[in-house]
Amino acid sequence: MATEATALQDAVHLLPQTNQLRALQSIIRDRHAKRKDFVPNAGRIIRQLIEAGLELLPFEPYDVQTPVGRTYHGLRLTEQICGVSVVRAGDSMETELRAMMPEIRLGKILIQRDKVTKLPRLYYSALPSDIAQRHVLLLDPMLATGGTALAAIDVLCDHGVPEEHIVFVNLLCSPEGIRAVRERRPAVRMVTSSIEERLDENAFMQPGIGDFGDRYFGTD
Ligand code: PRP
Ligand code: MG
Repeated sequence: MATEATALQDAVHLLPQTNQLRALQSIIRDRHAKRKDFVPNAGRIIRQLIEAGLELLPFEPYDVQTPVGRTYHGLRLTEQICGVSVVRAGDSMETELRAMMPEIRLGKILIQRDKVTKLPRLYYSALPSDIAQRHVLLLDPMLATGGTALAAIDVLCDHGVPEEHIVFVNLLCSPEGIRAVRERRPAVRMVTSSIEERLDENAFMQPGIGDFGDRYFGTD
């Protein structure tokens, strides 16, 4: 019989919990981490997450000639992809994606949670005009209650993106957040580097990382 933990892991693509990944997590979860350590080490995890997210997008055959005159029968990602970041904390992930793939189309959705009620509010979105034909890497480092992610997914679906074309990439997620997304958007795939124990009464993940956006941008 599937346990609660295995059911959650089936719902998301969890990065292999290697020593290297856990060492990076230890740096950025440390309450005393300075920004000069937090930002680049978060970036190293984000790049692993983006690589795993890209793996879930469609590829097509692509042959190249090698310097010794042979053909390598390879693959390339289809051009029908894009990244969409949930501003503000998602900007940290957009930065890494843009560095990895300078020509990728990038959309933005600005959603902020009310500081007290924790309910998300949509302020703005700017998306590629043909986004309905694209596969989307949706970028936000935190999936806590799931309110923000579901609001962002609603924006994409309202623009004609099929649910099954969305890969939601996050750094940390809660069991509550996974369940919320799975329940309402079952075809959305998720990639994460950690499934946390739970949410506390303030909707912070435990053991968590605190407020990722404040720590990354230095606004705490
Ligand atoms: C944080 C985080 C996610 C959201 C997750 O954003 O970046 O977007 O909360 O919480 P939820 O799953 O409970 O909705 P926040 O609105 O605090 O602002 P920020 O991105 O500017 O840091
Ligand atoms: Mg946010």
